[in-house]
Amino acid sequence: MRDDPYWNHNTRYHPWLLKQVPLSARTAIDIGCGDGLLAGKLAGRGLAVTGIDVDSDIIAAAPATTGVSLEQADFLDYAGSFDVVTTVATLHHVSLRAGLTALRDLVAPGGVLAVVGLWKMTPRTDFHYFPVVPLIRAMDLAHRVSWPSARTRDPVDGYAEIRSAAAELLPGARMRRRLMWRYTLLWHKPA
Ligand SMILES: C[S@@+](CC[C@H](N)C(=O)[O-])C[C@H]1O[C@@H](n2cnc3c(N)ncnc32)[C@H](O)[C@@H]1O
Repeated sequence: MRDDPYWNHNTRYHPWLLKQVPLSARTAIDIGCGDGLLAGKLAGRGLAVTGIDVDSDIIAAAPATTGVSLEQADFLDYAGSFDVVTTVATLHHVSLRAGLTALRDLVAPGGVLAVVGLWKMTPRTDFHYFPVVPLIRAMDLAHRVSWPSARTRDPVDGYAEIRSAAAELLPGARMRRRLMWRYTLLWHKPA
């Protein structure tokens, strides 16, 4: 977004995430919030926002933002209920089914879960994705891609495994492959 301090394959999907916020939403949580950039944007929409990250250093270094409460916590153990649950590039840090279950349980009835995630690509399953690689490289150059320091992990689950676990644990979830080595997943919890 125009005033962002940096651009990368995660911030690219902030506009999509913000678009999923229902007008009626009052509370949100961003899981694996890193420096709190997305949490601040959600607060800018008038939501009371919690950002959690398992990394205490990243929480300590994150700037304070009005309307955002940042906490060091592991989302697999976190209890709460939020109208909007977002998570970017974090689900693959934990075991898939445990992660999807924990995310599901954090969504309030009638609320929304919006995930931007990574999957493990292989030439056999993702050959149709590779023609877009030059476009991704060109966008990286045009936007001067930049990554704030945060823990990273290579994804271990393929797209089909994630889709199948989501179909079972989050019935009705919609998943799409996107540019920038990312998928989006959207799920509305029944009221
Ligand atoms: C690749 S970074 C992404 C950070 C941020 N969402 C972004 O878009 O830049 C993944 C983040 O997830 C956090 N994380 C990993 N496992 C977690 C867990 N179980 N609970 C909460 N945060 C976790 C890491 O500490 C890291 O900050």
